[in-house]
Amino acid sequence: MTANTRTDANGIDLDDIGTNPTSNPSFTDLVASRLSRRQLFGLGVGTAGTALLQACGGGSGGGGVAFPIIPPAPAPAPAPAPMKLNFNPVAKSLADAVIVPAGYTASVLYRLGDPIAAGVPAYKNDGTDDAATFDRRAGDHHDGMTFFGMDASDKWDAKNASRGLLVMNHEAITPLFLHPKGQTITGEAVAAVRTNADEVLREFYVHGVSVVEVNKNGNSWSYKQDSRFNRRIHTLTEMHFSGPAAKTDYLKTKYSTDGSKTRGTLNNCANGTTPWGTYLTCEENWAGYFRRIAAADDTARTQKERTSFKRYGVASNGRELWATVTPDTADDLYGRWNTEVKGANATDDYRNGHNTYGWVVEIDPFNPMSTPKKRTALGRFGHEGACLGPVVVGKPLVWYMGDDSRNEYIYKFVSAKAWDAADIGGGIAAGDKYMDDGKLYVARFNADGTGVWLELSLGVNGITSGSAAYPFADAADVAINTRLAADVVGATKMDRPEWASVNPKTGDVYLTLTNTNASARPIDKTDAANPRFYNDKKMDGSDQRGNPNGHIVRFADDNADPAALTFKWDVYLFGARATAPADVNLSQLSAENDFSSPDGLWFSEAAPGLLWLETDDGAYTDVTNCMLLAALPGAVGDGGAKTITNADGDTTRTQATFVGKAPGTEGLRRFLVGPKDCEITGIAESGDGRALFVNIQHPGEGTESLTDPFISNWPEGGSARPRSATVVITKDDGGLIGL
Ligand code: FEO
Ligand code: CA
Ligand code: CA
Ligand code: CA
Repeated sequence: MTANTRTDANGIDLDDIGTNPTSNPSFTDLVASRLSRRQLFGLGVGTAGTALLQACGGGSGGGGVAFPIIPPAPAPAPAPAPMKLNFNPVAKSLADAVIVPAGYTASVLYRLGDPIAAGVPAYKNDGTDDAATFDRRAGDHHDGMTFFGMDASDKWDAKNASRGLLVMNHEAITPLFLHPKGQTITGEAVAAVRTNADEVLREFYVHGVSVVEVNKNGNSWSYKQDSRFNRRIHTLTEMHFSGPAAKTDYLKTKYSTDGSKTRGTLNNCANGTTPWGTYLTCEENWAGYFRRIAAADDTARTQKERTSFKRYGVASNGRELWATVTPDTADDLYGRWNTEVKGANATDDYRNGHNTYGWVVEIDPFNPMSTPKKRTALGRFGHEGACLGPVVVGKPLVWYMGDDSRNEYIYKFVSAKAWDAADIGGGIAAGDKYMDDGKLYVARFNADGTGVWLELSLGVNGITSGSAAYPFADAADVAINTRLAADVVGATKMDRPEWASVNPKTGDVYLTLTNTNASARPIDKTDAANPRFYNDKKMDGSDQRGNPNGHIVRFADDNADPAALTFKWDVYLFGARATAPADVNLSQLSAENDFSSPDGLWFSEAAPGLLWLETDDGAYTDVTNCMLLAALPGAVGDGGAKTITNADGDTTRTQATFVGKAPGTEGLRRFLVGPKDCEITGIAESGDGRALFVNIQHPGEGTESLTDPFISNWPEGGSARPRSATVVITKDDGGLIGL
């Protein structure tokens, strides 16, 4: 949510949607625990002897290699020197530039429109580049990203420091800058139509995922334009389904009469990895792309379908109006975005088109001919990311996932099969083994600092055909309507769950809760895990009520077992202005590390214990552009219980919570500030941790007209149109980044 971000006709942020109407807890209703802090946090955190391999989000391809469990050594080795942040914090900035600390260099690597195949001309960046070439150009709005090191025989080599495949998401578009004069639209509201098919084709291609080979030459990095691995996966790419919803009636369309496949992926936000060397891309705000005028379509739908549409927010004319282009093509390239009932049967139209989105999608970057697979066992919601938990031979694999809308939930998937390192390099077939068979859980955060993972399976926890809120028919129905199942079991509504990452030193899971507002979560709906309500007044005096700066929750699954069904939690960090009152600035942030709206979050693999934190903010942007911070967090329970006083005008309320130890500048400092009106997101490192890849998303996206000065001209400068881009950061002395 940024102040200038794209909004719909009702002024609603296109990426900031809330559709959870349930009355799920409400921690004020929960019975306070009698457990002491010692009992809560003295158990099961960072148990010695468990081989932990963190492998979320970015990094060197999932930490790659998994090792057998190492038995506890009889006597611990002498402790290494404690890790220290070793750079001068970057000041907050409103400049149109990427700023890094002295001693570091940030270079632009891969920009919107850059060609990734031989013969594709350089990007002109004036809107006139041939639409048909965009399936071989970098997409827009770079987001979650993984570096897969690659050896000389073109095999995955997680530790490779100079060659790899950079795989990244392209979440959305800034249409003003994509076309000669922005989108060509005639008519208004539900009658608005797109009249230029070239523009729409360009948009189909710039969403999705890039695979690009990158190489280090001397001290600098570049992408290889003609690599055989380069690939764009976009909204036209064929994808298969697997898991409980595959080949069921819910996924049948005119394109796939047996429900086995669909075309495309979009709004790919954060990412994830697997220990066998594939990439996971996560479909976040997909619902808004479909056209479904509810007033007309509802009469052709069952009560269950209407309930599902409402819960997922599929009720607009489609944010980019893709369904409105006429005439349609023989293969329904435009009409497939209309998810209304049009024909006699589900196989005559795309009434189920919306069900084919909202998934975690597996991609094998080492096999450019492979077909991506949508893994329905991981549930359907606004998938932010899919963070792989600690990988241990002989134990199940676990992925932690946030559903990024206001008042949505935190999930984890636990595989039925135990990890076997022989599956490394197994590609999509290994995914069939671990990701199609398992259990999905949703989190409830208790007021006493404990938590529970609630199973989402048919016949369990009230998820039955007798459920009054939504009668579930079968396992596919549960997978497709994950949010409705989570409502039934009483999951905890959170302040917009974003990325997760696991601390490889402790096994603790960190998850960003980017922010929320007063209308979605008023002062009487705080709870222990979402405890703050305040008014963060902007410099111009305007109000921002709710939890506009966000926080980061962290939890430790009991007994250091990612498959455990109980956990302990606290709040690691609260975003705030350094100048905010003590009950708002609960983490005691200072000018060197204050931030707002945490989103991207990722633990380095080369430097275990080093955490990177990225912001996607609109609340503190009167003072600073979005940023990247480096952190050295402790562990769940390193702070203490605290009762805070919230205020909304004359109303005050107290709320008990658990606050992590204040980080100080030793534990948190600002490393990078981005250009104007951008989001910092996506992060990965080369196999030796000496190159850090970071994405600058949508600089200047709030620019309203091509005749206005652009809010940003980054990275080209002058009067150029701004472009989303990947930057690569190196330390001038060749050392580890941040340390
Ligand atoms: Fe696409 Fe939740 O950020
Ligand atoms: Ca995000
Ligand atoms: Ca965000
Ligand atoms: Ca974004």
